[in-house]
Amino acid sequence: METSFREKRVLVTGGTRGLGRSIVELYLNDGARVALCARSGESLDAIQEQYGSQVIARQVDLMDLDATQGFVSGVVAEWKGLDHVIVNPPHSATVPISQLTLADWQKSYEAIYRSMLAVVETALPSLLQQEGASVVVISSIAALEPLDVVPASSVLRGGIAAWVKLMTREYGARGVRFNAVEPGYIDTHIVQAGVTRTAKETGRSPEEVMAELSQPIPLKRFGKPEEVAKAVYFLTSELASYVSGTCLLVDGGLVRGV
Ligand SMILES: NC(=O)c1ccc[n+]([C@@H]2O[C@H](COP(=O)([O-])OP(=O)(O)OC[C@H]3O[C@@H](n4cnc5c(N)ncnc54)[C@H](OP(=O)(O)O)[C@@H]3O)[C@@H](O)[C@H]2O)c1
Repeated sequence: METSFREKRVLVTGGTRGLGRSIVELYLNDGARVALCARSGESLDAIQEQYGSQVIARQVDLMDLDATQGFVSGVVAEWKGLDHVIVNPPHSATVPISQLTLADWQKSYEAIYRSMLAVVETALPSLLQQEGASVVVISSIAALEPLDVVPASSVLRGGIAAWVKLMTREYGARGVRFNAVEPGYIDTHIVQAGVTRTAKETGRSPEEVMAELSQPIPLKRFGKPEEVAKAVYFLTSELASYVSGTCLLVDGGLVRGV
């Protein structure tokens, strides 16, 4: 079966580090054209230089609605369409739920939902014109088992499962598939920052904290960003042509519920 993305046009938000970066690289190495954004220009310049016209790398803050819509519509105009969209949202507030203010909730909504809705709404007219188009949203295990450290993200991500189902019902007959992935503990910059913080607060080494967090994971380790990228790749590919409205856990078996 053909799984190459050669000549396909893929847009990834937040693509210079962590999960987004691995997703970007997987598609680029498979011959796709990839448009990505981030806030800091340096890494965007490096990717642009490395991959040339195979890439559109733009400095965009996804918390800025106009800039987000402008980024997506600019890519659609430049490439005369898009085949796949990967929504990789900014992080949300990491304060305990008792300290979350209305302003924090609003900001988290803007990070996780408004950016997703803006990206998808802007890309949709183009996706509807392509054969085999799809959208994948990066959600989290927090959607299933709320995490105290990311209360707003936990609450909001619970709704993404409903969103991909509703979008599938609305647009499935017109050929666009909608899915999400729910990563567990993946070894990225943000997770390492959390591990270092906990290590400092509890007087342990980062290795000890990692070992403790890995203990309840049946595969006994954190995931790698490329392992999430492969799940995203699968969901956008022909291999998943009959998969829509689903959330795929990529958590090493951590979530216990059925
Ligand atoms: N890592 C995990 O274990 C894990 C697990 C479940 C879910 N997730 C979710 O997956 C997503 C990515 O996490 P990650 O660990 O890969 O994060 P990361 O390593 O911090 O990378 C985030 C990427 O997004 C960009 N970005 C952040 N805020 C942005 C904004 N406002 N506008 C534009 N770009 C922005 C960053 O570049 P700049 O900083 O230059 O903007 C970077 O390229 C998040 O939504 C996170 O909640 C992660």
